[in-house]
Amino acid sequence: MPLSEWEQLFDLSDRHGFVIASDECYSEIYFGQQPPLGSLEAAQRLGRHDFRRLISFTSLSKRSNVPGLRSGFVAGDAQLIKPFLLYRTYHGSAMSPTVQRASVAAWSDEAHVQANRSLYKRKFEQVTPLLAQVLDVALPDAGFYLWAAVPGGDDIDFALQLLAQYNVTVLPGSLLARTAHGANPGAGRIRMALVAGVEECLEAAHRIHQFTKEYRSS
Ligand SMILES: Cc1ncc(COP(=O)(O)O)c(C=O)c1O
Repeated sequence: MPLSEWEQLFDLSDRHGFVIASDECYSEIYFGQQPPLGSLEAAQRLGRHDFRRLISFTSLSKRSNVPGLRSGFVAGDAQLIKPFLLYRTYHGSAMSPTVQRASVAAWSDEAHVQANRSLYKRKFEQVTPLLAQVLDVALPDAGFYLWAAVPGGDDIDFALQLLAQYNVTVLPGSLLARTAHGANPGAGRIRMALVAGVEECLEAAHRIHQFTKEYRSS
């Protein structure tokens, strides 16, 4: 989100009093030179030094490829952190010393994060142009997903047929959202996660390419 959108969101939060809980677990998976703007940085730049009604959630799971670790940190408005700590006491589980030490090692090293980012970059560079020949798809600013519009607009049917015929799993976008004001923002699109290795992602892209051509003409 650009600074202008953050500004708009902060204005709305000021007006209506809601809390902004910003999930930033993909903050280190980006493709350009500049990292995406985080919520705390946006608040700082807009002079909101108390981070009022803003809380940011981070995670090691994407940055360090350790989704099983369930390790991250929460930062933001001190007024919100205080009750959050109490909530954690009753509803969170303590981390084992092994996980704590692994977390310290992962947060203390940037080399593996850069290597991970380069790997994603390579995957997207190879997969995106191939898929763009048959689908409406473009390189995102960040994250490890490609979102493509499907021919005919039925994302669930497209995903089911692709799985049945080519053994490739993608997520129908309509299942990730719900209808609001008459529209489901995920409808008509599929989400592809480029989390497997380069060769496997490329193989999947070839299969999707082939399937899409057949699906279009069927
Ligand atoms: C958007 C989003 N938020 C949060 C999480 C969970 O992160 P963690 O592995 O730290 O529980 C994930 C990962 O699965 C995610 O995709």
